[in-house]
Amino acid sequence: MNMPKFQTYGRRCILVNGNHKNLSGKIDISGSKNASLPILASAPLLNSRFLLKNVPKIQDVTTVFNILEYLNVTIHVKNNCAYIDSSSSFTSIKRPIPYDLCQKTRASILFLGSLLSRFHKAALYYPGGCKLGFRPIDYHIEGLKKLGVEFYFNGDLIVAKAKKIKGTTFELPFPSVGATENLIMASIFANDKVTLMNASIEPEVVDLINFLNASNAQIKLYPKERIVEIYGVNPEDLRLKTPYTVISDRIEAITYAVLCASLGGELLMKNVPLNHIGKPLDILRSIGVDIRKLDEKSIIISSQLENLESNLEIVTGPYPEFPTDAHPIFVPLLLRANGTTILKERVYKDRFQYVNELKKMSANIILNEEDRSIIINGEQKLHGAKVRATDLRGGMALMIAASYAEGSTIIADSDQIMRGYEDVILKFRSLGVDVYEC
Ligand code: EPU
Repeated sequence: MNMPKFQTYGRRCILVNGNHKNLSGKIDISGSKNASLPILASAPLLNSRFLLKNVPKIQDVTTVFNILEYLNVTIHVKNNCAYIDSSSSFTSIKRPIPYDLCQKTRASILFLGSLLSRFHKAALYYPGGCKLGFRPIDYHIEGLKKLGVEFYFNGDLIVAKAKKIKGTTFELPFPSVGATENLIMASIFANDKVTLMNASIEPEVVDLINFLNASNAQIKLYPKERIVEIYGVNPEDLRLKTPYTVISDRIEAITYAVLCASLGGELLMKNVPLNHIGKPLDILRSIGVDIRKLDEKSIIISSQLENLESNLEIVTGPYPEFPTDAHPIFVPLLLRANGTTILKERVYKDRFQYVNELKKMSANIILNEEDRSIIINGEQKLHGAKVRATDLRGGMALMIAASYAEGSTIIADSDQIMRGYEDVILKFRSLGVDVYEC
């Protein structure tokens, strides 16, 4: 193992003193979590040294660094740059990626594709990550089998083998982000063309494709048709010569925009991936939030609480639809705005665990489990309470709600939030929110 990488968090709490009004300040949006993770998981494919910029300092990234170190990849981190060397002593995989590391992040499953391509073999355990109901990996397995991969399962252990990856066409049952990424990585050295249909075209998938193409891969994306074509290249040719900068985090950008909208005030946001957040920004505008574009990457958000009105139906879906990860984050805002909103979750079967926690803060939210939807009547007053971060985005919903609620809120299991938001305490404090780790 090398020097310790980004900080590791244990079980922690966050204390938020509420009643914050009229937020003001400036926020720099960090590098994208969900783009960094697959790009880092693709390191074994490159078998060389390369530099990644704009990598966020968050727990999920640390976990993927730990997996890479377990695989003898050398990593040096300075600020938000990761210097990676996946060449030297990295020769074969003798033991599975340890259970504890696989359990810490869903992204561990992405090593299936990269290790299969590099070693024709991968062994790891069923992945953990955000508890958003049962999260199967059947599309990954089904697609990999179509590419000629053979599997052996024993409890949580997954062993995969393939002498060669064969050209084929696979239609995903749903445009799964992780399955698309895994299948791209598994196909990178295929001996014939691999076509993925109904693929995810999330910006994070596109960033992985851009990174691999910058390293001489041959991947074509047809976003309108949701088709990805992978033309196998020679393993020796896959090299990244110039540093690659990871895209900014669109969900973090939405988070701070919603925080400002919910508290009122004015916020300057920089490094915003404006092309990736069109739908959520349109919804914010329709609620009465003013959004002024300063340049290609900067916006000013202004919100006056008395002007907020929401009588909408919001439905989550694969990109470019409204992102499921923005669903919980919008709820504290909808609880404040005048009007009634229906929010329908169409990506996950069970993403409503945070609702019970908001109810502890006096939120009145009507949950229809069968329809996977909630009804939110606005203009509600929330009160501080002891709550628990059930998952990353649900935890953030609690942080935003706690910032304007009357009184203080303690959010337990806040390491869920730290998994995915860089410097979240510092950033909230810089905007005047009275928040502490405890
Ligand atoms: N699904 C299956 N079978 C599969 C794969 C997915 O049934 O084999 C289902 C899932 O259960 C879910 C839906 O398909 O209902 C979409 O899942 P997807 O595979 O797209 O999600 P993921 O790759 O596991 C990534 C993000 C999530 C984000 C989703 C959806 C990463 C590391 N995670 O997960 O991010 O919610 O895409 O956009 O990229 C977060 O950042 O908070 C987070 C949970």
